[in-house]
Amino acid sequence: MSIYRFVVNGAETEVDVPGMRRLLDVLREDLALTGTKEGCGEGECGACTVLLDGAPVDACLVPICQADGADVRTVEGLAGPPGPPGPAPEATLDALQTAFLQTGGAQCGICTPGMLMSARAYLDAGGGPDEDAIRDAIAGNLCRCTGYTKIIDAIALAATPAATLATRERTGGTA
Ligand code: FES
Ligand code: FES
Repeated sequence: MSIYRFVVNGAETEVDVPGMRRLLDVLREDLALTGTKEGCGEGECGACTVLLDGAPVDACLVPICQADGADVRTVEGLAGPPGPPGPAPEATLDALQTAFLQTGGAQCGICTPGMLMSARAYLDAGGGPDEDAIRDAIAGNLCRCTGYTKIIDAIALAATPAATLATRERTGGTA
């Protein structure tokens, strides 16, 4: 056992675990961050995607020793802190989460956390609403519900500047 220190969703975190323990298990079992899902456990499905120093990685393939000193972001870290009680708690959601809700991009939801994290990395890198580029960005994330269209729509929506959306609304979608 060794002590590893890293930042998870902005909070300094320390665990005392074997160095080869998977980051996925540390997140889910040691830190109770169960938003990150396990699908294949072999680096094939992307369900376990988290951001490690801003880059999307498969948490099932990352030993905790490789995360020592790193900045880790999980799906729990996407939304802001809860707003005041009221009718619009979604106001604190990340733009991607709101877009997934608007387009129906979350179906069974198993792939959704990983999709969101890959998409967040794509947007953080300046990605836009181009479909081919979005498909590339989520190429490592499998959706067994086969509903990629709505997922891509959601990411494109989140990537579209607000001014463009407002113009589309005014022109009935022709701009
Ligand atoms: Fe990690 Fe499938 S569970 S890639
Ligand atoms: Fe079901 Fe993607 S929403 S696997």
